[in-house]
Amino acid sequence: MIGSANGRPISITGLGCYVPERILTNDELAEMVDTSDEWIVERTGIRERRIAAPEQAMSDLALPACKQALEQAGLDGADLDLIIMATVTPDMAFPATAAILGDQLGAVDAACYDLSAGCTGFMYALAQAYGMLAGGLAERALVVGGDVLSKILDWTDRSTMVLFGDGAGAVVLQNVEAGGFLGFELGAEGAGGIHLWLPGSGSRVFDDPEKYVKMNGREVFKFATRVLVSSAEKVLKECGKSVEDVDVYVPHQANVRIIDHAARKLGIPEERIVVNVDRYGNTSSGSIPLALADAEADGRLQKGSLVLMTGMGAGLTWGSSLIEWTNGGMIAA
Ligand SMILES: CC(C)(COP(=O)(O)OP(=O)(O)OC[C@H]1O[C@@H](n2cnc3c(N)ncnc32)[C@H](O)[C@@H]1OP(=O)(O)O)[C@@H](O)C(=O)NCCC(=O)NCCS
Repeated sequence: MIGSANGRPISITGLGCYVPERILTNDELAEMVDTSDEWIVERTGIRERRIAAPEQAMSDLALPACKQALEQAGLDGADLDLIIMATVTPDMAFPATAAILGDQLGAVDAACYDLSAGCTGFMYALAQAYGMLAGGLAERALVVGGDVLSKILDWTDRSTMVLFGDGAGAVVLQNVEAGGFLGFELGAEGAGGIHLWLPGSGSRVFDDPEKYVKMNGREVFKFATRVLVSSAEKVLKECGKSVEDVDVYVPHQANVRIIDHAARKLGIPEERIVVNVDRYGNTSSGSIPLALADAEADGRLQKGSLVLMTGMGAGLTWGSSLIEWTNGGMIAA
């Protein structure tokens, strides 16, 4: 799916994020399995990650991020007409975590649902919310991305447990005077689904139901390096922009080698790339909004900045979006 914005300007008007307090270092992991800080840093760029407390579920991580995003946008929960929560680790299969958040935020007029597209979930959710606003179905949407992958990892499997962390981010989407989203490109290759999956998590019955994440790292690596480049190129072309126009590049934070590979192929200079995988690991749907929050904190998101975001993950899925940052700029209600 590909398309460029041709209707009203819609942008991100509020941004928030949250990570749990507990920091888990590579050295601690090396006490649990046969790995080392050196191996993890060299192969992934990850130095530490945040891990949720046993009692913390998805909505507990998402709520502070949502509140921060709403505050920045100057809105209350009651102003929202849409909440989409992108996650593969909801509090439970149902009710939707978005509905739990809607209740906690007092969003009495909002449609609330969860969306499952692996680590690409936040990009899919952004595109959906954009479409709802562009079509006039909604005016103020909260898009939340996050995961608590620590709850579904096999802590004896060194090939997956070193990669992931917990965290959440949220953005508010509203109609703005000018600027905002320029276009989206989303896709999926279901045939590759078995390379990153949670087999025993649904209605398919297996002889030996596996309740932890299983991954073929090499296949996912090949897929990731390919689609990060192709999706970015497609969305830029669709929007009539080139790599030189990109001020801030926010790729999915899975592995610094994947990010470096994509940036090199695309020709994006290092100073324009946002990287936080060293501190958070791969937080799945939380990755891009957390990286956006980092870019905002270090002053890189200026009014008029062209921001390219690309996610990829389970599905296998990918998604890109191009946005001209507006620093608020919402149309007064
Ligand atoms: C998982 C990943 C880091 C492995 O790195 P790699 O350089 O491809 O390493 P390989 O898979 O070739 O494995 C090399 C060796 O390291 C071993 N190894 C795997 N994990 C290890 C760990 N944590 N510590 C030490 N050794 C490890 C492997 O068992 C393998 O040993 P072998 O050669 O004896 O079989 C890499 O493939 C990757 O990042 N893939 C993408 C994963 C991803 O991003 N998933 C989420 C997408 S949203």
